[in-house]
Amino acid sequence: MLGRKILVLDTNSTSRNFLAALLRGKHFTVLEADSGMDALIKVWRDLPDIVVFDPTFADIKEVEFVHKLRHDPRTASTPLIALSSDPDPARREACLQAGVNQYLVKAPEAVDALEEILNRLLGVDRPTAPVGQAEKTRGLLIVFLSAKGGTGTSSMCANLAMNIKRAEPEARLVVADLILPIGSIAPIVGYEGSVNLVTVADQPSTQTNGEYFRNNLPIPELWGFQLLAGSPDPQHGNNLKGERIEEIVATLRSTYDFTLLDLGRSLSRISLPLIQQADLITLIVSTDLSTVKLTKTVREYLETQGIDQQKIYAILNRAVGLEGATKAEAEAIIGLPIKTTMPYMGGNFALANNLHQPITMKYPNDTASIIFKETAADMARSAVRLHNR
Ligand SMILES: Nc1ncnc2c1ncn2[C@@H]1O[C@H](COP(=O)(O)OP(=O)(O)OP(=O)(O)O)[C@@H](O)[C@H]1O
Ligand SMILES: [Mg+2]
Repeated sequence: MLGRKILVLDTNSTSRNFLAALLRGKHFTVLEADSGMDALIKVWRDLPDIVVFDPTFADIKEVEFVHKLRHDPRTASTPLIALSSDPDPARREACLQAGVNQYLVKAPEAVDALEEILNRLLGVDRPTAPVGQAEKTRGLLIVFLSAKGGTGTSSMCANLAMNIKRAEPEARLVVADLILPIGSIAPIVGYEGSVNLVTVADQPSTQTNGEYFRNNLPIPELWGFQLLAGSPDPQHGNNLKGERIEEIVATLRSTYDFTLLDLGRSLSRISLPLIQQADLITLIVSTDLSTVKLTKTVREYLETQGIDQQKIYAILNRAVGLEGATKAEAEAIIGLPIKTTMPYMGGNFALANNLHQPITMKYPNDTASIIFKETAADMARSAVRLHNR
């Protein structure tokens, strides 16, 4: 890591000195700046690998600061991390929209989060893999499920996966669609090829190793992740060799940093062990009362199956319109905190799906896009934290 340069911008010298010393202790070369202009001069002169800044400086607007860096070819893709003394969501959103990669609020646990992000961005210090394994992977498993159909599970899975990949471009990420009898991620991302769960399961397991997946799984245009598409039709779906699924998922996990599974509303013999192995269980809830109540049943069932409730990441998706339960009502009924609420997007959501486009690309300025970005980053962080416990 020696020689990796980080510029720390903070007008507060105590805070800046603390962070600089911490990073030097981790063998980074640290440059310091005490104002926005000072930082711009130093960044363009010394070209650090990463910029960490408290966006509360006064000599230039923080959004302008980010725009200047993003619009200069020398720093267009330099990772920018806000470590902010201001928790105001408006500032956070403005910064993220301007092109900041991560926005952390100063707090004791922010130091760990920052370190994790730096290591990830610089591709170092990942959990060590067995000696002899050429590439290290983090092997995180995130599953997506719902108590009822049509709650937006597949749309959330594809769009959140895309945003995790964007937040962590160097991470290897695969999405596998395990919905039977017909998968629905492929139609959302516009993949029409013939590599899918059924064709993969038909091959001998010796053939479908990590290298096979890396070389053969498609990367749908605009989405960035590799896709193991689901069954293309019920006939194929019914022929699926179900006993191969656990092993396929295990191979994906040892090959990718993030494996995301769309399990839909299935709580079957096949999906339960996968849920039990998951680092993070994303539970998609729509606002209609019947879904909220069924979600409580699912939560209770997962509890009886020994699943740690802390792993459940509940997302309230207003897929069915403006009606229905509020966040507080849903939390009270289900007995879980709701981590994110996705706004109702009317026909826009279906339109983006039909055009096979990610929401954040089709509607970059929509609130939903900001929420997708933040939720994806938060989910990735939560998965890492839960995995490393
Ligand atoms: N926040 C939202 N606002 C508006 N429409 C939405 C929203 N979320 C999802 N939808 C729409 O709801 C429909 C169902 O979405 P999706 O197929 O992702 O759900 P699902 O839970 O995976 O369904 P299934 O049970 O069929 O697998 C789609 O037409 C999608 O465009
Ligand atoms: Mg679905």
